[in-house]
Amino acid sequence: MGDQRGPVGGLPVEVDPEDPRPLHEQLEQGIRAAVRDGRLAPGQALPSTRGLGAELGLSRGVISAAYAQLAAEGYLLLRQGAPARVSDAIRGTTARPAARSLARAFAYDLRPGLPDLVGFPRQRWQRALARGWAGAPAATLGEVDPRGVPQLRDALAAYLDRARGTSADPELMLVCTGFTQGLSLVCRWLREYGVDRIATEDPGWHPHRLVAEQAGLQVVGLPVDEDGVDVAALEDSGATVVVLTPAHQFPTGAVLAPERRRRLVEWAETHDGLIVEDDYDSELRYDRTAVGALQGLAPDRVLHVGSAGKRLAPGLRLGWMLVPSWLIWPLVTAKAIEDQGSEVLGQLAFADLLSTGDLDRHLRRMRLRYAERRVRLLRAVEHHLPGVRTGDDPAGLHELLLLPDGTDEPAVLAAAARRGVGLEGLALHRHDGRAGRPGVLAGYAATTPPAIDRAIALLAEAVAEVG
Ligand SMILES: Cc1ncc(COP(=O)(O)O)c(C=O)c1O
Repeated sequence: MGDQRGPVGGLPVEVDPEDPRPLHEQLEQGIRAAVRDGRLAPGQALPSTRGLGAELGLSRGVISAAYAQLAAEGYLLLRQGAPARVSDAIRGTTARPAARSLARAFAYDLRPGLPDLVGFPRQRWQRALARGWAGAPAATLGEVDPRGVPQLRDALAAYLDRARGTSADPELMLVCTGFTQGLSLVCRWLREYGVDRIATEDPGWHPHRLVAEQAGLQVVGLPVDEDGVDVAALEDSGATVVVLTPAHQFPTGAVLAPERRRRLVEWAETHDGLIVEDDYDSELRYDRTAVGALQGLAPDRVLHVGSAGKRLAPGLRLGWMLVPSWLIWPLVTAKAIEDQGSEVLGQLAFADLLSTGDLDRHLRRMRLRYAERRVRLLRAVEHHLPGVRTGDDPAGLHELLLLPDGTDEPAVLAAAARRGVGLEGLALHRHDGRAGRPGVLAGYAATTPPAIDRAIALLAEAVAEVG
């Protein structure tokens, strides 16, 4: 084809002699793409091998080979004595929708759950990656133990015993890709084992309910008050498994009272029950040391699940479970079937971060930052939204703002969103059919203090508009 570049053989396919790929390969890839996206329609005839070969300066055999390859892959149909045609089996689409981002962009994104990602300890993490990897034998990359690398299980057990008051045994630990995978493995095993019902907090983190329902479990909601979950309601529920956030209830912020902790463990002992402890937000407390994990009280009744999501970043997808001895092998098997075990390099880095004390240093730094942002949020609410009630628990990454009774919560969320403020409604975390006081969850950890002020001023406008 000389040095001409552009469409060939009347096809919507371009070749370029300057392209390092051979012409027949460009032709093949071009036809494949055109069939896939509908520029070449099903049934459409392709130029003869002789004509196209002459145009491209290639032998007829090379074009035939390209057509034969595309026919073998199912893109073309070849018939003796007839032109090659585009296969009917492939339905291309001309108007393929552009891939949409899952994230909605808000100028002020106060949706709860995110730590300050700008504060992620990048350099320490890079150092930990290099150090963790340097110290590991090459075999670490090959023989994956579905429970996680031993270095991480040892470092986590020491850390959790010290920071969370657990009674952790590295042999009974299972590293997973976050709390969500941990809960999902447990729920699916429960269903398989014949359990049909699970209790969760109401209001409670809505993925607790979603994950359990997805596994085929019936979900019973347990009321929550300022002392945490209502244990009497659990006793009456008929459930033998419960998911809880005892250190800092999501979304209310209540800490499970000592008397209820004792009664819960008693319930588990007498009902042959299992408590799934979502140890969420635990070290992120700004007034005193966090209350110790329930698991320390009853390691054979409490399945403790933790995550690096709030401590560092959700994108690491790193979590862990301290599993009662009788449940470890079913869960290890489930994890192995699901994904053979979690990614290894991140585990080695996290092990290094834990054992060098870098995680403690990071958390100390972040606690100061979050405490300051929380106070800023409370002041802004007091100033702009005097009718709104806030919690009095200095912990976590969000505050629950209770709106005056009768306020139209979805309308407030929509009016705030129109002003560029992203929030989450309390109703999202309530079980179906339970009406309650309207409220919004405002995350403050990932937002700078001036932006917090502005966002709350805009929220006040939204509340006023809804009336
Ligand atoms: C109550 C609660 N539990 C657990 C998690 C963490 O889930 P994961 O570790 O899967 O990111 C979150 C994150 O937002 C949460 O809000």
